Amino acid sequence: MDRIRIGGGRILTGAIPISGAKNAALPLMIASLLTRETLTLHNVPRLSDVRLLMRILGNHGIDAAISGKRIGQSEESGETITLCARDIVDTTAPYELVSRMRASFWVIAPLLARMGEARVSLPGGCAIGTRPVDLLLMALEKLGVEIEIDGGYAVARAPKGLIGGEIDFPKVTVGGTHVALMAAVMAKGETTIINAAREPEIVDLAECLTKMGAKIEGAGTERIVIEGVPRLDGAHHHVLPDRIETGTYAMAVAMTGGDVLLEGARRDLLDSALAALEGTGAHIAQEEAGLRIKRNGGGILPVDITTEPFPGFPTDLQAQFMALMTRAEGNSRIHETIFENRFMHVQELARLGAKISLDGDVAVVEGRRKLKGAQVMATDLRASVSLVIAGLAAQGETVVNRVYHLDRGFEALEKKLARCGADIERLSGEK
Ligand code: EPZ
Repeated sequence: MDRIRIGGGRILTGAIPISGAKNAALPLMIASLLTRETLTLHNVPRLSDVRLLMRILGNHGIDAAISGKRIGQSEESGETITLCARDIVDTTAPYELVSRMRASFWVIAPLLARMGEARVSLPGGCAIGTRPVDLLLMALEKLGVEIEIDGGYAVARAPKGLIGGEIDFPKVTVGGTHVALMAAVMAKGETTIINAAREPEIVDLAECLTKMGAKIEGAGTERIVIEGVPRLDGAHHHVLPDRIETGTYAMAVAMTGGDVLLEGARRDLLDSALAALEGTGAHIAQEEAGLRIKRNGGGILPVDITTEPFPGFPTDLQAQFMALMTRAEGNSRIHETIFENRFMHVQELARLGAKISLDGDVAVVEGRRKLKGAQVMATDLRASVSLVIAGLAAQGETVVNRVYHLDRGFEALEKKLARCGADIERLSGEK
């Protein structure tokens, strides 16, 4: 199993190209099940989650191809993939695949829309919490779907086809909103989604569906109205830049010091996280080519944060911000409100010398810690990358194990950081 070795203590300077967003690419790929025509997605990140989803979609009968590189494209520019679900050959999504990637549960919506039936394994728990799908199933039931749970599978049928309705989410859910959108676009009549998630990835999916012929209003607000259409066509769509990758590298620079241009990044996609970073003393400027982040000398000021649905501080940046706060000039308080168990990085950060106390969903991070390199590992993607950031700022050598978590969501992580002067390399194979 690959590991990443980091020699800490170097400042970062240069430019990092920001990839297409994983959490936009996945639902966009799933949306290709909605049409017999070809959906072409540009700027898709090279990630193991994308490869796995291609396999899962292949199971349903999708022909997927990755286009060759074009002249002038660097290794880091995203891929173009084409997906064509001319005939859906299987409406079952098996446990072996869904349990490896929760988002693949979302195929339930387009399978129902196209075939009137789906049998999809319940994903089960994961490292960051219980993560139920009750609200996703509730949304489908509001559109006339009958669902029973049998042998660990959600067996869903829409005998009269999907019928527009009102879906009022008691809690903001990204996956629930994706599923509701994909189910409603071809339902008969009008659907209203109330208390919809407002994440930029929802807007990206809605824009792509609109190019495919869907009629959607209000994506990016709490109330989305969809007028069902009988069929959707193919389209071309460019995946939006990854705001979590952007925030992660911005936090790395805020921690090590330096000056880095995050190419293609957009401030409007992560305003609240950047405001928190500015509170710590980092300078951030939107330039034409992307976001520039600088921290020269000066201490890191402590800032309290609370994770919230968009436009609040994203839970997917909580671990990285915690790593930064271990070096702040005072204590800070981090309140996680989205996932109850998302503090798995605390014990690993402690191995590097961090002092963090937990009380329910609140972590108090003691500042002014001198971090020292160590062997660490983590059980989820964002927790793993928080250890990379901490390692960049620690004294001596850090080795991050279980790199496959990083490969799920960060394209060419070590190459991008090494280009900016970090001492970082991938060590392959068993030790
Ligand atoms: C998406 O997960 C992201 N995944 C997550 O990113 C992200 O952390 C999360 O949204 C929150 O922003 C993808 O986009 C592929 P939710 P999702 O439904 O859709 C509860 C990463 O590292 N809930 O918005 O699964 C749930 O338990 C990943 O890239 C229910 O109670 O998240 C949580 O407390 C990790 N019932 C809250 O809602 C349900 O039926 C928000 O979850 C569904 C959700």
